[in-house]
Formats: sequence, structure tokens, C-alpha cells
Amino acid sequence: METQSTYNYKVVRQFAIMTVVWGIVGMLVGVVIAAQLVWPDLNFGPWFHFGRLRPLHTNAVIFAFGGSGLFATSYYVVQRTCNVRLISDKIAAFTFWGWQAIIVAAVITLPLGYTFGKEYAELEWPIKVAITVVWVAYAYVFFGTIGIRKVKHIYVANWFYGAFILAVALLHIVNSAFVPVSLFKSYSVYSGAVDAMVQWWYGHNAVGFFLTAAFLGMMYYFVPKQAGRPIYSYRLSVVHFWALIFTYMWAGPHHLHYTALPDWTQSVGMVFSLVLLAPSWGGMINGIMTLSGAWHKLRTDPILKFLVVSLSFYGMSTFEGPMMAIKTVNALSHYTDWTIGHVHSGALGWVGFITIGSIYYLIPRLWGREQMYSMKLVEAHFWLATVGVVLYISAMWISGVTEGLMWRALNSDGTLTYSFVESVKATHPYLAVRVLGGALYLSGMLLMAYNTLRTVTAGRAVDAKIPAITATHHA
Ligand code: HEM
Ligand code: HEM
Repeated sequence: METQSTYNYKVVRQFAIMTVVWGIVGMLVGVVIAAQLVWPDLNFGPWFHFGRLRPLHTNAVIFAFGGSGLFATSYYVVQRTCNVRLISDKIAAFTFWGWQAIIVAAVITLPLGYTFGKEYAELEWPIKVAITVVWVAYAYVFFGTIGIRKVKHIYVANWFYGAFILAVALLHIVNSAFVPVSLFKSYSVYSGAVDAMVQWWYGHNAVGFFLTAAFLGMMYYFVPKQAGRPIYSYRLSVVHFWALIFTYMWAGPHHLHYTALPDWTQSVGMVFSLVLLAPSWGGMINGIMTLSGAWHKLRTDPILKFLVVSLSFYGMSTFEGPMMAIKTVNALSHYTDWTIGHVHSGALGWVGFITIGSIYYLIPRLWGREQMYSMKLVEAHFWLATVGVVLYISAMWISGVTEGLMWRALNSDGTLTYSFVESVKATHPYLAVRVLGGALYLSGMLLMAYNTLRTVTAGRAVDAKIPAITATHHA
């Protein structure tokens, strides 16, 4: 059969396009909620209120933008490195349409106020069930394809994608356990401190496996490809893989310092977070060192710039994270904009840059073009995104430390030096700078959409032929 001699690029193309679309939607909502914090008058009615749009932002950027990027790249990488077409075109298509339907359901229900009430797990129970079904289908396509591979070796990128798929299934099912009371309302089966503990075991591993391990899978394929160099150290990749997935599982309680959680669990969370620095930097160093001998390419290749700068942000946010997990530091940073700055140095700098770079790598290849319609626009995108993220996170650092210090300042008689509203006023200018940074980052995404449109319309959908096997072949 003709199709068996080619890779299934159709589903990759679909997810790649939706990565750009959802990136714009999610970041636009991000800019809107950032503006609402500067100009509260922008909170209209219940549907357009910060409280309802914030979870729409987080769901859209993490699960729609990040998720579509991960589906696109994992389906591409697993085929290319296993030298075989996806095990089932139909089930792969089901994961595409199913995932898009789930996102649309989120876009409708979150502004309407339907929520399970757990951060990053807000969607109500019928949608939770749909997520489980689509995820099982995804696991079947991914692991099924590995099962029929024509290359003995399983390339390390697939290990990271595989860990992500398994861990997210486990996290989702355990944390979402619910008791429905009506078609649109359910409650968690857990309560009190146990509920909090389960939630942040989920929440932190959503960071660890969704926002980190999976994107490391992306990194392990697209950085060596774009640099034209083999990965620096396979041994390091295996060691830091096992260390990373083991350590992440225990770090969740650092989100619950000084709460009703037993004190020793908070300390365990803190210690594992400090340990996490090592495997995180193992990945970062492996990625950066892959460029040895190819550094000169950075001068001319904006796609490589995206990929390498993403690794710098990964290194930075995984240094900052362990510091913030130290209880005394967290006493200052918790509840402040510092956390938001940390989140976005990971989200915009690491997740955003690695995804954008990988999608720029993919688009011309999926539509039979040599390169993107305009590399100048890719370069402009790189600078808009870089200036945008730097403005965003530096504004949040200043604002966060200001808040933290003002809240704890005491007069000699033991009363608070500042009222809460004084701290809100103090952060106002920095919140405005964040809107500017976010708008720059978003405008880069608009350039990407235009560049993608021109590339796609100038090309035509092509599915690469599966090459003949040689024992040592790597795609
Ligand atoms: C144009 C880009 C973006 C802008 C302007 C933006 C803006 C915002 C704002 C204003 C908040 C609420 C902060 C608060 O409650 O004080 C937020 C939260 C959040 N954003 Fe973004 N965002 C952007 C992109 C992204 C991306 C690409 C991701 C993930 C890949 C992301 C992930 C998150 C997360 C996880 C939170 C919740 C943080 C927490 O609860 O601590 N954002 N964002
Ligand atoms: C070694 C790695 C990391 C450690 C130990 C770590 C640690 C922390 C700590 C201590 C907090 C603050 C908790 C609080 O005070 O509420 C936090 C928040 C957060 N971090 Fe990290 N972090 C790491 C890497 C990352 C990366 C790479 C990303 C994103 C790609 C990320 C995303 C987040 C998010 C989304 C939150 C906010 C959660 C919420 O409150 O809603 N982290 N992290």
C-alpha cells in the first residue's frame, strides 16, 4: 500500500498548525489578563472576568499550545527514529480531533464558570473523562509505533515522550478522581490536607512531566538536528532521565510550605527540589554541549537561536526553582509575583522557545519547502520574543520582591509598616511593563503565523518516504 511506504505527516501538520493557532489564542488571553491587573475596568461581566479568564489562559497555553506542540513533535520524532509509519492513522486522527474538541470545550466552559476548582485540572468531569479516552488513544499510537519499530535502539527523545505520556495518565487519573453531583458539577474524592497534597503532587509533576520531560524529548531530537551534531553524551541522557523522573515525584510539597501539611513532608519536598537541580542541569548541559563545534551556526541561524536560548532559560528556571523551594526563601517569594516570574521564565523562555524553534524546523519539511518563507521574520520573531520574556520576568522579579518585603516589614511596635493596598500600588508600574513584554511576545507569534501561512501556501503537503533500513540508521 502506498501509504505504508511514507510517514504519516498529516497528523503532524494538523497539530503543528494548531500549535501556532492556540499559541496566539492563549497568549492573547495572557495579555488580556495582564492588562486587567493594570486596568481593573477591563473586567467585564462574569464571563470576561480575571477569575474566569486566568484558567482559560493556563489551559490554553499549557494544554492547547504546549499539548499540540508535543503531539506534533512526538508523532514526528517517533516515526523518524523508529523508521516506521504510525501504527494507526485512524487512531492518530482521533487524538487530533479529540484533543481539539477538548480544548474547544474548555474555551466554552471556563468563561461560563464551570470548574472543578483544582489548578491546572479545572475542567469538569465530562471533559476529564474525554481527556482520559484521548490520552489512552495517544499512548496506544505512541507505544504501538515503538512496538513495531524497524530500528532496534529506542532513541532517547522517545524515552522522555514516553515518560511524559505514562506520568500524565497517572497524574490525571489520580488527581481528578471525582464524585459527580450533576452533569456539570463534581467534587474531589479527597478532602483537606490530603486533597492539597494530591493536588500539588499532580501540579508539580505537571510541571515535571508536561512542561519539562516532554519538552526535553523535543530538545533531544531538534537540537542535534538543527545543530547538525550528535547529542553530546548518551550516557548523560540516560542518567539524567532516570534521576529526573525519580526526583520530580517527591518535590510537590514545596508548593505548600507553611501550610497544614505535616512539616516533615514540606522538608522532604524542599530536599528533593534541591536535588532536582542536578538532573535538570544534566539535560541543559547535554543540550548546550551538543553545540560544540557548531557555535558559529548561531550567528546565522535564528531557529538554532530559539533552541539554544530555550536551554538557557531552562537552566535558569531550574536554578531558581530549587532556591524558591528553600523554606526561608519561599517565605518571601510565596504569593508574590516572583512565582509568576519563575513560571514564565520556564513557560515563555523554555517551553515557548523550544516549541517555536521545533515548529519552525518542522513547517518547511512538512510542506516540501527548503526553509520558512522568510528567515528575516524568524530572526525578528526571535528578538521580539527575547525582549518580551526579559521584560516580563524582570518586571515580575522586582514586583515580587517588593511585595514580599513590604508584606513582612514591621514597625518597632510590631504593627505592619504597609497596608496591603500600598503594596498593590507599588507593583502597578511593573504590572504595566509585563503587559508590554507579553504584547511583544505575542506579536512575535503573529509574525510566526504570517510566515507559516506564506510557507504553507507556497508549498504543498508532502509525506516523506520511509528510508530503507540499515542496522545503525538514525533519522
Ligand atoms: C504573551 C504571553 C503571556 C502573558 C502576557 C501571560 C500572562 C499571564 C498572567 C497575567 C498570569 C496571571 C498572573 C497572576 O495571577 O498574577 C499568568 C499566569 C500563568 N501563565 Fe501566563 N502569560 C503568557 C504566556 C504563557 C505561556 C506560554 C505559558 C505556558 C506555556 C504560561 C503559563 C502560565 C501559568 C502556568 C500561569 C499560572 C501561574 C501560577 O498560578 O503561579 N503563560 N500568565
Ligand atoms: C528544578 C526545577 C524546579 C523547581 C525545584 C521548581 C520549584 C518551584 C517552586 C518552589 C515554586 C513556588 C511554589 C510556591 O511558592 O507556591 C514553583 C512554582 C512554579 N513553577 Fe517551578 N520549579 C522548577 C522548574 C520549573 C519549570 C522548568 C517550570 C516551567 C516550565 C516551572 C513552572 C512552575 C509553575 C507553573 C509554578 C506555579 C505553580 C502555581 O502556584 O500555580 N517550574 N516552582
